[in-house]
Amino acid sequence: MAFSKASVRDAKVKGRRVLVRVDFNVPLKDGEVVDDTRIRAALPTLELLRERGAALVLASHLGRPGGKYVEELSLAPVSRRLSELLGVNVTQAPKVVGAEVEMAAGCLGPGEVVLLENTRFEPGETKNDPMLAGSLAALAQVYVNDAFGAAHRAHASTEGVAQFLPGYAGLLLEREVNELNKVVEDPARPLCVVLGGAKVSDKVGVIERFLDLADQILIGGAMCFSFFKAQGKEIGDSLFDDESVEAARQALAKAEAVDCELVLPVDLVLGREFSADTERKEIDGTDVPDGWMGLDVGPKTGALYAEAVGKAGTVLWNGPMGAFEMEPFAGGTRAVAEAVAKASGKTVVGGGDSVAAMVEFGLSDQVDWLSTGGGASLELLEGKKLPGVEALIDAKVPATNEES
Ligand code: 3PG
Repeated sequence: MAFSKASVRDAKVKGRRVLVRVDFNVPLKDGEVVDDTRIRAALPTLELLRERGAALVLASHLGRPGGKYVEELSLAPVSRRLSELLGVNVTQAPKVVGAEVEMAAGCLGPGEVVLLENTRFEPGETKNDPMLAGSLAALAQVYVNDAFGAAHRAHASTEGVAQFLPGYAGLLLEREVNELNKVVEDPARPLCVVLGGAKVSDKVGVIERFLDLADQILIGGAMCFSFFKAQGKEIGDSLFDDESVEAARQALAKAEAVDCELVLPVDLVLGREFSADTERKEIDGTDVPDGWMGLDVGPKTGALYAEAVGKAGTVLWNGPMGAFEMEPFAGGTRAVAEAVAKASGKTVVGGGDSVAAMVEFGLSDQVDWLSTGGGASLELLEGKKLPGVEALIDAKVPATNEES
């Protein structure tokens, strides 16, 4: 289904202030941005708006400060990085809304940029408080949502504000929705889905949907232990939770009835505890002895999954195969990442951790589409509507609608 929301390309922005919701929820360390992928991903929309003579008021959340000011979650390091990337000074506003912010926004000339403070410093943000949404809307005449990563949140800056201003889709948001929808609607076959991460219950909607759509689902990460437990196997001290075991049981039952192969690891890498320098051993098979926990899929599984990825017409990868942040347990995730990078089929990687893995292994430029959305990409793939997208105006509504 073609993207049906009005595009930023169609918005009248010359000489106007545009409130742009971006997802600059990026990792920071010692006051510096560690991975600027999400900031770079927003640049095309920001550049287009500046070229067209708009003044930009940018809004983003960072982390989960819980409705109060938290110094380490200030967006100041992000505005410094964005200034470098845009080649223009980005003013960091001291707050999200209020008199000082209104003044800063009101003084902006065409092409100038101000970044509001972390929207989640305001308690009304996650409650989608109309007062906050109205105050945000008062800063601009047009709203653009380019924050795909936060589009599954019905918050004041993602959904609420679009009740007050005409809302357009940014270029990134539009492309994300189109790329992910293509995997679901018209994938080149075979469609191979690789799923990892900790909990089956987080991904149960995606598993359910792709059991009907995919040719193969390959399971890795700690979530495989919920499947093994559901099969009555010994999983030692490996991570699992009851909700996930039940979800895994249902997925296994459904897999019996449909034409999709649900593949589980055939070997594992174990550790005594969750730490990089713990005692480590590889086992053939998947029965985990007491006193050990599974921390990665084994080399045979890595090779098996890599082979499937190589043969696929479309690959969708979401979630690491093990605790890849610890080198002794990074082998399975690296095997999948390298196979995805080499694959001749179309490749789509989503979810914060698998994207981080591609970046860490230096392979992020070898993927057809690297989604900036974690939860948002999963919800879209599950077939859910994203509130941040739904609130935007439909493409057929004439742009004159914004006149007021
Ligand atoms: C993300 O990192 O997935 C998005 O920025 C959304 O963040 P949240 O899960 O804290 O809403």
